[in-house]
Amino acid sequence: MPLFKKHKLGAPNVDKIERSKSYYDQKYEKEYHIENYYPIFDKVIEYISPESKESPILDIGCGIGECARRLKEEGFQSYLGFDLSESAIREAKKRVPEWKNHFKIQNVYEMDALSFPYKIAIAIEVLEHIQDLKLLKMLKPGTILIGSIPNYWSSNNEHLRVYPNKFHIWWRFRPFMKIHKWHKHSFNKYRFIHTFVATIK
Ligand SMILES: C[S@@+](CC[C@H](N)C(=O)[O-])C[C@H]1O[C@@H](n2cnc3c(N)ncnc32)[C@H](O)[C@@H]1O
Repeated sequence: MPLFKKHKLGAPNVDKIERSKSYYDQKYEKEYHIENYYPIFDKVIEYISPESKESPILDIGCGIGECARRLKEEGFQSYLGFDLSESAIREAKKRVPEWKNHFKIQNVYEMDALSFPYKIAIAIEVLEHIQDLKLLKMLKPGTILIGSIPNYWSSNNEHLRVYPNKFHIWWRFRPFMKIHKWHKHSFNKYRFIHTFVATIK
């Protein structure tokens, strides 16, 4: 049995085609469970908390706004979340009604169109869905980036690649950022998510 199967790491995405807006819209029209990510949001809050509560935060691929909900509860004030999916943004506005003007439908590759003076960017479970290096090149130098990345494939070919370990992440991203902190959240012995804090070069 191949190792990735034996260790429940999912089947590799061989087509490597990015999922479209309509794909994500349909996904978010169905009931969407996010509980698995709660420990990751906890880590993001921990990493972001030493920053001032007024620091503008850009949430890249914000999904249904769960991280936004946590940031709002923690007293952060300046936030913009965007996502390709209209359904995700609709749900985010429902979940965090006080921030309904803080969510936008936007493709990451056109994020330069957003005139938001972010100092912190977060990308939680997003880099593996997109052309990660293209995004990193678009971020302003000096930005604090908080990212999280899994080491497993998605059941429905959403992930374009996996990041098997910390060294792999460091090596791939080293031209674009300096990583300061790491955390590994393990679901079991083989499946995990790395969260990191970095400064964009
Ligand atoms: C696994 S979800 C993570 C959502 C959210 N960050 C969270 O932690 O709940 C990946 C998100 O990336 C978004 N996404 C994928 N491609 C995108 C693109 N080209 N531009 C903007 N968002 C995109 C999807 O719509 C989806 O909401």
